[in-house]
Amino acid sequence: MITSQSRQLYERARLSIPGGVHSSSRFRRPHPLYFSRAEGAYIWDVDGNRYLDCNMGNGALILGHKHPAVVAAINAALERGLQAGYETELSVRVAEKFLKVVRTAERVRFTNTGTEAALHALQIARALTGKDDVAKVEGCYDGWADPLFVSVWHDPAAGGPARAPRSIPGTRGLARSQVERTLVIPFNDLEGARRLLEANSDRLAALILEPVLIDVGFVPADRDYLLGLRALTQELGIVFIMDEVLTGFRLAVGGAQEHYGVVPDLSIFGKAIANGHIMAVVAGTARALSVCEPGAEQVAFVGTFNGHQLSLAAADAVLDLLADGTVVATLEERTRRLARTCRELAAKYGVDVQFQGGGGHFQWYFNPRPVRNYREAWASDPHAYAVFREAMVEAGVVVAGNYLGHNAISLAHGEEQLEFLERAMAAAFAAVARSGSPCSR
Ligand SMILES: Cc1ncc(COP(=O)(O)O)c(C=O)c1O
Repeated sequence: MITSQSRQLYERARLSIPGGVHSSSRFRRPHPLYFSRAEGAYIWDVDGNRYLDCNMGNGALILGHKHPAVVAAINAALERGLQAGYETELSVRVAEKFLKVVRTAERVRFTNTGTEAALHALQIARALTGKDDVAKVEGCYDGWADPLFVSVWHDPAAGGPARAPRSIPGTRGLARSQVERTLVIPFNDLEGARRLLEANSDRLAALILEPVLIDVGFVPADRDYLLGLRALTQELGIVFIMDEVLTGFRLAVGGAQEHYGVVPDLSIFGKAIANGHIMAVVAGTARALSVCEPGAEQVAFVGTFNGHQLSLAAADAVLDLLADGTVVATLEERTRRLARTCRELAAKYGVDVQFQGGGGHFQWYFNPRPVRNYREAWASDPHAYAVFREAMVEAGVVVAGNYLGHNAISLAHGEEQLEFLERAMAAAFAAVARSGSPCSR
């Protein structure tokens, strides 16, 4: 593929933007790709190359790019003229629709990004418990705030024992004092988690976790682990926060909490709720969100752009389309089909690969065994993935930039797009087999 316009734009961009990108995760060597438009399941780069998009706005575009109902809703909202800083009937209606879909929640507040939602949830948890600190799960990404951007995408060799992981900063620039106070617990190891939570319960306001580690691919929690943590946090007076920013509306229309049958005190949603427009949600029990009721003791949950009218218009349309569960069922069926094809192709080309996915999110782990936690994901072969990824891009498919990333399809990925993806997968497995990687037999 010729990407000379992207290269030129990168040379220009790096004079005004560090690395030529506004989110460091978009940086690629030898240069990032720059895009000019998108429609349905496709995006076009500035050189005019068309790609099948399996990034889908980091998983946000559940309905596909430029979905007509979402575009119409936003255009109508633009005509009404209201943007930020006001409450409207729309902001009430979308809250009601959300609570009809996520039945385990009783109250909501809207905000903008997953990171902000996590911080609001943490403040609510502190107000509820009178305690300050937070526990999180090794390998979960819960946004970039100081106490939460901890122990994800790190080298486990520096991460301490599996049953007592160390708190590793996710980036430079975090307040060390906050990172050190964050307790990191292991994933899918209830006994290991129990020991740590019990020993630290007097200082923990909250435990936050992704019910499926999607930010490092796709690693589902065991049901017993989630149910066990729910019961334990209740016993220990720790607020249980489910981070549904990626699982939201994908595993079940009511989120992973419906899929697993777990009722958290608080949960956060984002991404898919507005199909790529900027919106996030803090949802929870009436008791938990009662601390945001007006009064001297309230948690001041504030933000200029909270409940932005354009985002709400998008969410209004998205929730209508998601409500009957058809979108979720369709995405699940398509993911299972890709898993079947992947198994057949892996056997044909003699490649050890685990396709792990659900609800339209997935990752290929070049690993002889299924991946059950962060350290097993890390132990997959990054070189085989790099060969695979390059072949996928060459075949015209945008997939996750590295082996601890994630991929997503949308409602717009129909038969034609799935067949294209399957042909690209075949070519990419052939490339891995030729590369002599330890994952090829
Ligand atoms: C599970 C999860 N939680 C939180 C976040 C943070 O969301 P945002 O990027 O909107 O701040 C992300 C973003 O990737 C996420 O995947």
